[in-house]
Amino acid sequence: MNKSLEDTFGNIDIYLFDQLLKGRFDQCKNVLDVGCGGGRNLIYFLRNGLEVFGIDQNEENIEAVKKLSQRFSQSNALNNFVVAKAEEIPFRDDVFDLVICNAVVHFAKDKDHFDAMLKSIWRVLKPNGFLFIRLASSIGIEDLVKPIGNGRYLLPDGSQRFLVDEKVLLDYTKELKGELFEPIKTTNVQSLRCMTTWCLRKKV
Ligand SMILES: C[S@@+](CC[C@H](N)C(=O)[O-])C[C@H]1O[C@@H](n2cnc3c(N)ncnc32)[C@H](O)[C@@H]1O
Repeated sequence: MNKSLEDTFGNIDIYLFDQLLKGRFDQCKNVLDVGCGGGRNLIYFLRNGLEVFGIDQNEENIEAVKKLSQRFSQSNALNNFVVAKAEEIPFRDDVFDLVICNAVVHFAKDKDHFDAMLKSIWRVLKPNGFLFIRLASSIGIEDLVKPIGNGRYLLPDGSQRFLVDEKVLLDYTKELKGELFEPIKTTNVQSLRCMTTWCLRKKV
């Protein structure tokens, strides 16, 4: 392993890394990670002087991400990291240049919950801001997933998730008045589950 690459990016999601390589977020001054976990996707941003924020419903994760923040950027305020729900983000409207939400919204308990998370995320995004979401989908494994009610499915890997398809994502893109800054891309993990990357920009 090239140590300097690991130092710079940490264990970043590969599709987020792809967007960084494309320079998509070069002008962003702040970033919010919704459902940030331990903050693996925030190391690059902390190291590069963005103002970094994170929320997660799990208190231990917020404590962990605060430690990570201290390690990589002494100037980043620790009260930027808050125990909170994605559906009730405790920040003002239109404040973030970039919002990341990686492997979170597919834990929605039903369509209303999914909708509430998306609308809450969209609310805090600035006009022209970027939204990077990765979520489980049925794209490519439609015949292998079993509906269990409320928009949730049993996947071949044994997990249960709220699943979207391409039409749902495109309908939301239109309803939110967003535009795709990358085509919708899906990784099929040996027909056990599919993870889709949905990249939206908020039109002015
Ligand atoms: C699979 S982990 C992903 C963590 C991180 N985004 C990453 O890519 O490493 C899912 C995270 O979402 C958080 N989470 C799930 N539902 C949430 C919700 N409704 N609001 C806030 N956090 C949530 C969990 O506590 C957990 O940290």
